[in-house]
Amino acid sequence: MNSGVEALLRPYSIGRMELPNRIVMAPMTRCMATDEFVPTAKMAEYYARRAEAGLIITEGTVIRPDGRGYPNSPGIYTAKQINGWQAVTDMAHSQGGRLFLQIWHVGRVSHPFYINGEQPVAPSAVPLEGKVARAENLEYGAPRALEADEIRDIATAYAKAAENGISAGCDGVEIHGANGYLIDQFLHHHTNTRTDEYGGTVENMARFALEVVDAVADAVGAGKTGIRLSPAAYHFVTPEAGDAAVFEFLLKELEKRRLAYVHAGIFDDSVSYDYLGGTVSGFLRKNYRGTLIGCGGYTAEKAAEAINNGELDIAAFGRPFIANPDLVSKISNGDPLKPYDESMLASLY
Ligand SMILES: Cc1cc2nc3c(=O)[nH]c(=O)nc-3n(C[C@H](O)[C@H](O)[C@H](O)COP(=O)(O)O)c2cc1C
Repeated sequence: MNSGVEALLRPYSIGRMELPNRIVMAPMTRCMATDEFVPTAKMAEYYARRAEAGLIITEGTVIRPDGRGYPNSPGIYTAKQINGWQAVTDMAHSQGGRLFLQIWHVGRVSHPFYINGEQPVAPSAVPLEGKVARAENLEYGAPRALEADEIRDIATAYAKAAENGISAGCDGVEIHGANGYLIDQFLHHHTNTRTDEYGGTVENMARFALEVVDAVADAVGAGKTGIRLSPAAYHFVTPEAGDAAVFEFLLKELEKRRLAYVHAGIFDDSVSYDYLGGTVSGFLRKNYRGTLIGCGGYTAEKAAEAINNGELDIAAFGRPFIANPDLVSKISNGDPLKPYDESMLASLY
């Protein structure tokens, strides 16, 4: 065994689930579902090939039609989609794996092109500039601000999606509260300028995230509910100093709920943010005493060191898992890793 990475190879318990190691596959959108947003047999093989991960977190999976912002990302709101996921979980389980479904609503990070010509929805009508991801010649635009009763309906849709995921054999769900999508849009001042019960104070800005967490945990159990968060607002959102207080409040509330875990949503966790007083995982660790999954630019050695230092409990790897389906074996044996290259996104292996 490669002794510099021993901490990664120690088991860890999440709720009643035992992870055989602390190497988690990070959620990664691959845009390979059918045109009805159903997971395919190739996707099942792709996940099953990575079943030696302590836990697989699936790609972002859309909770209802208006939550879509990318082509061919899977959904979990039709019977066909649930059956497709059942085939994925069956195959992963047959290889000894465990799998959490990442449940996703993109909010304003969409375009009428993806949602039947409708205007994307968001906490506030703050436009998003730039070219639509993974689509040529489309520009993002201004979303429509949600009414309060519509916000509660979306929380219910997360719970239904979670229930569907569990009925499809998933071992749990990860609420995608990160990376500038709908939940994250409520948590930052830049994208949340509401003056009702969903904006204006830290309690109000955290309300939607907590309503989603409570609805999902009620539906499937807190021990099967994780959440990913991006206090650094590095993607589709501009950070403001006051945002840190929103996350401090949110994390203290999450701590009471005994969730499966909190997961850092960041591409490079070595970056320090003044307004967080350090790195994203450092900020999360300071404000949250439950299980913390770190992610973002880690090597196996750095991740093992962070676990040994008590900075993380578990580490998630994204791009290394695309390039190396057998990442756990390679890390364990000290074998060299194949470097990730964007061209690998074109096919699903
Ligand atoms: C192709 C690709 C797709 C991604 N899709 C998602 C996603 O669906 N949900 C999510 O939370 N993060 C997504 N991410 C972010 C990763 O989960 C991870 O945070 C990021 O790749 C940094 O980790 P790494 O340095 O180990 O790759 C994606 C990253 C990549 C490269």
